This record gives sequence, structure tokens and C-alpha cells, in this order.
Amino acid sequence: MKRTRIIDAIKHYNEIGIGTDICVKGWVRTKRGNNAVAFIALNDGSIVHNLQIVADLANFDDEMMKKITTGSCLRVVGTLVESQGKGQVVEVQAKEIEVYGTADPESYPLQKKGHSMEFLREIGHLRPRTNYFGCVLRLRHAMAYAIHKYFNDRGFFYFHTPLITASDAEGAGEMFTVSTLDPNNLPKTPEGKVDYSKDFFGKHVSLTVSGQLEGELGALSLGNIYTFGPTFRAENSNTPRHLAEFWMIEPEVAFNDITDNMDLAEDFIKYLVQYALDHNMDDLQFLNDMFDKELIERMKFVISHDFVRLGYTEAIEILEKSGKKFDFPVKWGIDLQSEHERYLVENHFKKPVILTDYPKEIKAFYMKQNDDGKTVRAMDVLFPKIGEIIGGSEREENYDKLMQRVQELHIPEKDVWWYLETRKFGTAPHSGFGLGFERLLLFVTGMTNIRDVIPFPRTPLNAEF
Ligand code: 4AD
Ligand code: MG
Repeated sequence: MKRTRIIDAIKHYNEIGIGTDICVKGWVRTKRGNNAVAFIALNDGSIVHNLQIVADLANFDDEMMKKITTGSCLRVVGTLVESQGKGQVVEVQAKEIEVYGTADPESYPLQKKGHSMEFLREIGHLRPRTNYFGCVLRLRHAMAYAIHKYFNDRGFFYFHTPLITASDAEGAGEMFTVSTLDPNNLPKTPEGKVDYSKDFFGKHVSLTVSGQLEGELGALSLGNIYTFGPTFRAENSNTPRHLAEFWMIEPEVAFNDITDNMDLAEDFIKYLVQYALDHNMDDLQFLNDMFDKELIERMKFVISHDFVRLGYTEAIEILEKSGKKFDFPVKWGIDLQSEHERYLVENHFKKPVILTDYPKEIKAFYMKQNDDGKTVRAMDVLFPKIGEIIGGSEREENYDKLMQRVQELHIPEKDVWWYLETRKFGTAPHSGFGLGFERLLLFVTGMTNIRDVIPFPRTPLNAEF
């Protein structure tokens, strides 16, 4: 008999028909009962809810029934019936049960409920089986799908940028080297440095920190593109908002200025939040009830209000006048810390904020320079509970101005000559931004640690699973 997914049994029982025999397969969440009957809560990952299996003990072998414990995996054939009990509309009256795999109660780590998030991180191989992670992972899928749908519906092309690259787009120097050289026997140059000309690519290369520079090449030929892929940063910051391997979505649009860019960012994020509300309410309701009582309210709030748009200089004034003591003192020129960003969003405006026109010293070389000679046309989108969720800018399209920044920052021309040529041949105004996929997921799941919104987090000293 073909397998029925539990989501279909629960949501579409009318189409299947009450009284029909079905086959379901999944993992046991709990088993309770008495001398006559067992109630088994079965979950197959298709939905947060469990399907109740009712087994009359008279019909089943004792030894087999003993094997059914929390975590074991079953195939059940039985009749879909209206539930007698509270809490569910339908249940399955079992006719046949096969135990695919047992889970010894003495050693199964998820035998009990209510584990801490920290503990669950230590069992990354099993935590997708918990309700929390089921919800998070279904939302993660829904957001990835919605991202492709959003751009496809608007005529953007999905543009694949390389993961192995010789250029450091953000200039922060936090890259992982990719090499096939033998670390115990490194070829050396006469000056005693590692001779990467002997390496696989004949030069020093790393894992990319962003697809933007190559994305710009796509925008300056296809018009509207986006990338969506993994990016890597070797920053040793053990915070609840940083991963060493994270996913980023980077749209890049020819002829867009900074205002168009802000409009796109705001519309995009609101679309994604709305998509989650429209398609994942079961998961959101569970997370809202169990974890973060304001999750759904916060999501609806963000959709229904315009984001504040504000210059960096005004933001600094607000922070200075706030009278609040920050760990990092505020003055014009500083890179805003998460405490500053969150003050603006959560205390002052109580709304998402798009900050623009940052000092050029704290932003990347490619950002369009303002006429004041001090600031660049950057934009960061700041969100409640998260801080920066998007970073982007209008790009410097003037060859001479871009070249001047490249030289001031001592960026090796041999690494970025191809990027500079786009400003030599048919340059055009253009803009783009990067949305951190896991930061978005923090927002739509209410989770507070970024390690809990990706199946297998990569952070300093952590790459077990
Ligand atoms: O602000 P960032 O560094 O911008 C760029 O990489 C640009 N090239 C994007 C562009 O204009 N195309 O990173 C963009 C976003 C951040 O706003 C944040 O959401 C996320 O990526 N991000 C991280 N997420 C998780 N872990 C990290 N270590 C992150 N670093 C950045
Ligand atoms: Mg940034």
C-alpha cells in the first residue's frame, strides 16, 4: 500500500475519506495507554502535528508492542477514523504494525521532552526530529522557495557565482584558504613565503565571502540578477548572530539607485514574512506558543509599517542624545554595534530602520561615494531583536573614483582588474544588497541563536556534524 503523509491524513482526511484504510510511516513521539489499548503519537516530519495511532492490544504481539518506544520508527496500516478523544480530529485504528527500527529508551537522547537548545546542539544528528527543529527546517525550506519565487515572478535571473575565488569582496580579510598543497611540506618562494604558484589554481584562492562582485557582472549584462548560495567568513566572533558558513541572497540591479534599492529590500523582506504567514501557520503557531509569544505579532507589525529611512549622521545624533550608556561609546565615524542598532530599532523608532550614508572608512571599497567626500551610499536594514539583516549599497560606477579607493585601500589590482573593467566598458549606475538567510530565519522563527536555524552550524571550534 502506498504511503500517506501525515500532513495529508490530518489536513485532507475528507478527500481520503473517513473509513478508508491508509498506510503511514514515521517516528514515535510518545506511547501511552492501558492494559487494553495503546495510543501512539506518530510524526513523519511533514507537519508539526502527530497522528494518533490506536492499537487494541488484543490484536498485536506483546513482544512487538514492547519495541514501540519514543524514537522508534514504524509502518502502520489501519483505518482512518474520526477521533474519539480531544486534541485531534482524526486518528488511525491500527490493523498492522511493523517496527522498522527500535530506539533503546536507556540510550535514546530524545527520550524525554524539554531539552535545552544547548543540549540539542550537541546532538545535531538527531535534533531535526524535535518539534522545534521540524518547524524551523520547514520554514527554512519555505523561505528558500519564496525567495526564488519572488525573483522569478519579477524577471530576475538566478546567477551562479563561484565559491572559490581570488578576490576579497568585503575587504575584511576573513577568508578561508582553499589549497591542495601539503601543509607539512609547503613549497616556498625565495623570500620564504608559501609559493602558491605551485598550488592547484596556480595562485592563492579562498572560499568566497560574498557573490557580489561577480553578481555585478551579471547585472551589467542581464539587468536584474540574484545569487543565493553559501558564503564563508573566518571571523572569530562567537556571537548568537554569526556563522562561519552562512547563506546569502544578493540581488543586483542595473540602473537602480539607492532609493530603488531600499524599495526592493523593503518589498522583498515584507513578501517573505507574508509568505511565511500565508503558508506556514502551523509551524509559526507552534513556535509562537512554545517559544516566543510575540513572534506572529512582530511579523505582522513589520509587514504593516513603513521602514524608517535615516542617515547615519542623524542616527549618531539620536544615539548621542539618548542619554543611554553604551558599552561602545558613540561618536561620528564608529561602526555601529548591535547595541546601537537595537536601540534605534527597539527603543527609539520601534520599527525596522534603513540606515544610509555611512562613513566611507567603515564600508567596502565598491560603494558609491557621496559628494561630501566623507560618506558612501551604503544602506543597512536593521531589524528588531536581530540588528543588521541586510547590507547593501549603490555601487561606484565611475572608473577613476573606484580606482582611487582601490589604491587607497591597497587592494591588489591583479585580483580585481576584471571588476574594474566593467567601469571601463559600458559602465552604468547599479545597486544591490545581501540578505543573510539565517538572520531572516531568526526573524521568522523567533529563535535567538543563529546556530538553531541551520541544520549543521559551522562556528569556531565546531564542525562535528
Ligand atoms: O553586510 P555584508 O557583509 O554585505 C555583503 O557581503 C555585500 N557584498 C552584500 C551586497 O551588497 N551584495 O553581509 C550581508 C548580510 C548581513 O547584513 C547579514 O545579514 C549577513 O549577510 N551576514 C551574516 N550572517 C551570518 N553570519 C555571518 N558571519 C554574517 N555576516 C554577514
Ligand atoms: Mg554589513
